[in-house]
Order: sequence, then C-alpha cells, then structure tokens
Amino acid sequence: NWNMKNFVADQIELIKQQVGDKKVLLALSGGVDSSVVAAMLIKAIGKQLVCVHVNHGLMRKGESEDVVEVFRNQLDANLIYVDATDRFLDKLEGVSDPEQKRKIIGNEFVYLFDEEANKLEGIDFLAQGTIYPDIVESGTKTAKMVKSHHNVGGLPEGMKFELVEPLYQLFKDEVRACGIELGLPPHMVYRQPFPGPGLGVRCLGAITKERLEAVRESDAILREEFEKAGLDKKVWQYFTVVPDFKSVGVKNNERCFEYPVILRAVNTIDAMTATIELLDWEVLLKVTDRIVKEVANVNRVLYDLTPKPTGTIEWE
Ligand code: XMP
Repeated sequence: NWNMKNFVADQIELIKQQVGDKKVLLALSGGVDSSVVAAMLIKAIGKQLVCVHVNHGLMRKGESEDVVEVFRNQLDANLIYVDATDRFLDKLEGVSDPEQKRKIIGNEFVYLFDEEANKLEGIDFLAQGTIYPDIVESGTKTAKMVKSHHNVGGLPEGMKFELVEPLYQLFKDEVRACGIELGLPPHMVYRQPFPGPGLGVRCLGAITKERLEAVRESDAILREEFEKAGLDKKVWQYFTVVPDFKSVGVKNNERCFEYPVILRAVNTIDAMTATIELLDWEVLLKVTDRIVKEVANVNRVLYDLTPKPTGTIEWE
C-alpha cells in the first residue's frame, strides 16, 4: 500500500542501489524541492552527498543562514557554502532590463556551480529536485530531464553526470508531505514560492545596495506580520517590491526624499492567473507603520490591487 512512509523508505533503498559508494552533487537553493531531495539523500547516503549552496546576495533575510543551520548544523550534511554576493552585484551593476538581469543571474549561477563542481573529485551523480509538474510542463516523456536550477539556463556544457531525481513522481503537496516525513522543519517545507533570481527582480531596475536592503528588510517585516496574523498559511505568495524612483515625504518634521515600498499578496492555483488577497486594513496599517519606521530610505507604502492578468505576480 502506498503511503509517504513507504515511499520514503523505497526511495532511500533505490538511491542506495543507484549510487553505491559514489558521490552525489546537489545545488541546494533552500527551496522546497532541493531541500527535500537533500534530506532524502542525507538519509540514504549521508556524507556521500555534497550540497552546494550559492548565496547570490539576493536571498531573503536569514535564508542562507537557515540553509546552513538546518543542513550543516542540524542534519550534519556535507555542505559547501559559497557567498557570491559581491560577484553577483558587480555583474548586475547598472543593468536595468529585467530579462537581462535574469540572464546574468542565471549564467553567473551556473558558472559558480560549475566552478565548485570542478574543485571536487570523484562526483558521478547529480541530484535534482525535479517534481512531476516539471516533467509535464516541459513536455518531456521521461523523468530523466534536466531541471535547470532556478529555472534559468541549464547544466554547464560538458558536465556529465548521471541524474538522481527521487521526487519526479510527486506533486508539490506530496513533496511537502515527504519533507515532513523526512523530519525537515515545517517552515522550510511550507515555504512560499520564491523566484530563482530572488530579490533581484523585486529591486526594480538597476539594483543598488540601498534599495536591495530596503526590499530585504521590508520583506522580512511583511513575512513576520503575515505569520502573526496566520496569513502565511492562507496566502499563496506575498512579498515587497522597491521601485527605482523616490517621492517627497516628511520624517521627524523634516522633508525627506525616499523610496516607496509596494506590497503584493496573491492567490493562485497554477501561477498562470492570480487574484489579490483582500487584506484587512489592520494588517495593512501595521505593516505600513513598521516599514516606514524600521526600513531605511523608505517613506511610503503602497498596496498593489492588480490581479494577473493584467499584472504578472512579480513586477519584473
Ligand atoms: P509571474 O511574475 O510571471 O510569476 O506572474 C509566476 C510565478 O513564477 C515565479 N517567477 C519565477 N520563478 N524564476 C523562477 O524560478 C524566475 O525568473 C521567475 N519569475 C517569476 C513568481 O515568483 C511566481 O511565483
């Protein structure tokens, strides 16, 4: 009989058979799919799994630290942590076109992952968090497809690995159940979708450190207040955006010329269309109050009421 406990036990057995005493490489972004794959492989082969977490400097507040805490400290994983913040920000300097930004982030990511892979010896396998909808959406008949990490780019040329994809039969809710079965913390398993280019596409136009920090800090406040209000389990995706224009405001009886923060909270089934969450005024006012008081360089907060279409979920 099929249940998650048996599924996990079977997959662990299959992984052991497939991998033997060889090593497996995994790009661990900290998203649900890669985290669940990591947890499963750690159970199956322990330190034969080498996880690489690239922090592109566009992660949410505390996210990379959380990956290190959960996987290295709690699960005793073999984790290589690459802080590439400066490299990504250098490459992105002055680039304002959204697709160009995505391309740079994707390419740089693959380049760095490749660089780390080349430093390692005796890696025969690559694990991927491919799940069933990835296969259906890509139209591939077989599970042995390559899910490009962060949905951008693909495997670097010349990287020849056999794939390990233990989640390819599962839907998202089953992947989450699998993560819980494997003992991952619920906050990691029930995390909202987060785009591969991260906060990079929420800091509109050419990224600056100042505005990137404003996105990161305001996002952290929004998430905190949503959790307090129980909205984190109700709303599909919620985040903040910082545009690249300023407006006049007043702080401490003085004129200030600072950035606005845009709030977005949407519900959707498949991300193709989306409706906005009808947030309580109280929550909106609390979030607004905290953001203008706590986030540097911000003097206004706006709530985006646009469904998809005509807006996309992200602003870039
Ligand atoms: P849009 O903005 O197109 O987003 O309505 C639909 C869903 O996809 C996510 N998204 C991305 N995910 N790489 C990703 O991995 C990307 O470049 C990207 N752009 C958008 C978005 O967060 C939403 O969940």
